Amino acid sequence: MTQQIELSGVNKYYGAYHALKNIDLSIRKGAFVALVGPSGCGKSTLLRSLAGLEGISSGDLVIAGERMNDVPPRKRDLAMVFQSYALYPHMTVEQNLTYSLKIKGVKKAEAKKAAQEVAAITGLSDLLHRYPRELSGGQRQRVAMSRAIIRHPKAFLFDEPLSNLDAALRVHMRKEIRALHDRLGATSVYVTHDQVEAMTMADHVVVMRSGIIEQQGKPLDLYDRPANRFVAGFIGSPAMNFIPARSSTDGKSLLLDLAGPRSVALQHPMVPDRDVLVGLRPEHLALAAPDAPGFDIPVAAIESTGAMTYVTTATSPEIVVVLNGRSQLNSDRMIRLTFDQQNIHVFDASTEQRIDLTV
Ligand SMILES: Nc1ncnc2c1ncn2[C@@H]1O[C@H](COP(=O)(O)OP(=O)(O)O)[C@@H](O)[C@H]1O
Ligand SMILES: [Mg+2]
Repeated sequence: MTQQIELSGVNKYYGAYHALKNIDLSIRKGAFVALVGPSGCGKSTLLRSLAGLEGISSGDLVIAGERMNDVPPRKRDLAMVFQSYALYPHMTVEQNLTYSLKIKGVKKAEAKKAAQEVAAITGLSDLLHRYPRELSGGQRQRVAMSRAIIRHPKAFLFDEPLSNLDAALRVHMRKEIRALHDRLGATSVYVTHDQVEAMTMADHVVVMRSGIIEQQGKPLDLYDRPANRFVAGFIGSPAMNFIPARSSTDGKSLLLDLAGPRSVALQHPMVPDRDVLVGLRPEHLALAAPDAPGFDIPVAAIESTGAMTYVTTATSPEIVVVLNGRSQLNSDRMIRLTFDQQNIHVFDASTEQRIDLTV
């Protein structure tokens, strides 16, 4: 498969600060890749390094088969779409779109035609004569996208383009950007701190922390098999619950520390005598019938959104359980919790790396 963008062993220092640490990343032509992670983890630095707005300190950057380390931004043929739109306020939508073509010396009539073609794709045909101040947030975002599209770049680079929009519009624009990507057959690299945005938009999600790629893969593979505690806690909402535990000397059971010791017989044995963290997603816990096996646990709070009920336990660590629909929890504020062993995650307590149960 063709790799459109390839980074190998990329490091970036700001003075003594090591912002990108040995990054290896392959982006296939036509892919929609999301870079996700907490604020300050190096997402924008990585994107800006691709664009050439930052020089890299070591390693190799190849775009469409060509080494780009020392190639200036304008010759990399990539288009960046920002959160702040960066539209020219004194120019109409059409002028905003054709500006880059004008600079390149494209004839006026040809540029106008290109603007009309792109506007038809992005739904701006009726707005070409307007000024940015006469547009809604979503429409401005579309102009910013259109301005990128008109250049036929090798890839689109997005840096948190939806952060300025309200929640409803953000959800709408997510779909719109993804549909546009598919229609254009584009290659897109999309930076966001929002894991839901990354999971819903991308084919390939790259989870970063402190300048390192912690894990990358298909969205649901990250959800099903997080490689370590960080990824496990970052992907999924509400976040995964973690319970300290110790495996027995024969590896056939786990002793959970949850408001007292609670033993679980394992269907698949694991490494014996090890301090671990057991990860349980809120949606993988359930209420057991009073006479069925389970753990009796005190409840701190019950919240309902109508479609879902969120139960928070009065334990340390606290456990969050998501139930579908409304709950008929009784008023004694104790619940009996159960979970399916197919859905438990186990991490080494000190390295925080995943431990597989079926070995
Ligand atoms: N020009 C710069 N000079 C020095 N440090 C910087 C510069 N740009 C970013 N950094 C630092 O590099 C780290 C990563 O920043 P950034 O890539 O912007 O993170 P993100 O986009 O993931 O929030 C942060 O700790 C930030 O303070
Ligand atoms: Mg950033």
